[in-house]
Amino acid sequence: MPAITTIHDLQRQFKKRVPKMFHDYVDSGSWTESTYRANESDFEKIKFRQRVAVDMSNRSLETTMIGQKVSMPVAIAPTGLTGMLYADGEMLGAKAAEAMGVPFTLSTMSVCSIEDVASVTSKPFWFQLYVMKDRGFVENLIERAKAANCSALVLTLDLQILGQRHKDIQNGLSVPPKMTVSQLYNMAIKPSWCLNMLTTKRHSFRNIEGHVKDATDLSSLSVWTQKQFEDKLSWDDIEWIKQKWGGPLILKGILDVEDAKLAVKSGADAIIVSNHGGRQLDGARSSISVLPEIVDAVGDQIEVHMDGGIRSGQDVLKAVSLGAKGVYIGRPFLYGLGAMGQEGVTTALEIIRNEMDISMAFCGERDINNMSRNHLYLG
Ligand code: GLV
Repeated sequence: MPAITTIHDLQRQFKKRVPKMFHDYVDSGSWTESTYRANESDFEKIKFRQRVAVDMSNRSLETTMIGQKVSMPVAIAPTGLTGMLYADGEMLGAKAAEAMGVPFTLSTMSVCSIEDVASVTSKPFWFQLYVMKDRGFVENLIERAKAANCSALVLTLDLQILGQRHKDIQNGLSVPPKMTVSQLYNMAIKPSWCLNMLTTKRHSFRNIEGHVKDATDLSSLSVWTQKQFEDKLSWDDIEWIKQKWGGPLILKGILDVEDAKLAVKSGADAIIVSNHGGRQLDGARSSISVLPEIVDAVGDQIEVHMDGGIRSGQDVLKAVSLGAKGVYIGRPFLYGLGAMGQEGVTTALEIIRNEMDISMAFCGERDINNMSRNHLYLG
């Protein structure tokens, strides 16, 4: 294997190791993928101001997200189906994040359950919630997240219906998934993935399995979730969830100043400026281009986080300089995991940390908390 020095190196290894349908589920956007591409390319338009002959010793990336100490302003994003990229993927991701001192967010649609992840971690992780029509099940998830000592609830607001993802449809991953000859062939030609998947019994959505009737395999679960996601979700539901949860609440999927203002009113602790990695409304703006407007409008009233398009520590630094208190990495996490399991997640986090540290030094800054728009040229 060639030396891994960038997130893109991990991406290449991930593509080699993971079957096409799971690769494409991760590495695609919806419709024409214009938002998915803009998430990355808009970062390139932002340039740093290089400074010289400034003391660059004793640098620190430590900060806080929703008042919780983090070794750098990076959290692992909630991602669906993660345990299909590598056996027990969410458990491995959580362990890598814990060792690096960054938050891990477990998705409702994860393969490993809340309890599975709690069994291998010693510090609290975060739990991401989708609002389902079955409010009893939503309550059940909230109670389980509390029992597992999760220290934040990330409520996703932009996936009440699914953005059209052509590759998933073509690959048969859409609802209902079909196990075609070509899919079976695509799995068979990835022997390292196949052997690794045989080492675990966790192959379905374990947050849901056992809690919902007939939810025993991926295909019936997919049908079930499509029917179950609440397309009438409103700010009243958010209020209800806030009360049931009673702890730190982060609202994910805010892409408009008006919604950011409503989020402030809702009493949430933070918002994530996000277009779901370009997987939902194609044609929406990139997260990084919206971020400054939202920070200007509500940044003094609520903590603003972002995700979408982060592929390097430099991208994190740019987002932080524009006012994000933290960012989330989805694909870089999955590239690392899919390429090399837990070691790959650690590698992804280390790459990002080192790039951020060096770039901050070149900007003439020693403390991440001092990064601001003054350190940038905006294109
Ligand atoms: C789930 O969050 C997805 O984007 O598929």
